[in-house]
Amino acid sequence: MKRIKAIYPGSFDPPTNGHLDLIERGSKIFDELVVAILRNPEKDPLFSVADRRKMLEAMTAGFENVSVDTFDGLTVDYALRVEASVLLRGIRAISDYEYELQMALMNRKLQPGLETVFMMPAEKYSYLSSRLVREVAQLGGSIDCLVPELVGQKLREKMDVAHKFENGKSHGGKMPSESRMPFERKSKSRKKKV
Ligand code: PNS
Repeated sequence: MKRIKAIYPGSFDPPTNGHLDLIERGSKIFDELVVAILRNPEKDPLFSVADRRKMLEAMTAGFENVSVDTFDGLTVDYALRVEASVLLRGIRAISDYEYELQMALMNRKLQPGLETVFMMPAEKYSYLSSRLVREVAQLGGSIDCLVPELVGQKLREKMDVAHKFENGKSHGGKMPSESRMPFERKSKSRKKKV
């Protein structure tokens, strides 16, 4: 019988309960699911790829058929490399649809054999995005119930380091490499949601 391997690509900066909800749903219908974190040098992430990978690995440890990987370049090329036939994406609201449709059709043009499958997370997560989680955390709001405990802890650690750095107490004036400090300005090229 044909086994279906799917990839779930994204930025996951940070991973949220909405992502976890989709991973759980995906793990039930695909034989294998690879959560694939995009290594994007043009992006200005809050968390390094290594941190995001660790968080996602911890979050998905309970799912036997789910693994975590990173990739760069085109998603369709990555899918081909790992022999996946499905690309999983989440759609929360109509506002996601236009962008997701565009991406799905472009990916189909690039790789007709790869099928995009959209799934909806639980409605309680329909307003949830990594961008909003970052913003709420940065402004001191509660992110309980929006992200897994481990991610919440990592976010709080980042905020603490940022405050110490702002007060000139940490890092001897040096910023940690790769990931961004929460108070830093994002580059203008940054894309809308996530
Ligand atoms: O979580 P995100 O940021 O919405 O995920 C977007 C992602 C990573 C799926 C998309 O940007 C992507 O596939 N990037 C890889 C480059 C690529 O294949 N671009 C063409 C997309 S049609």
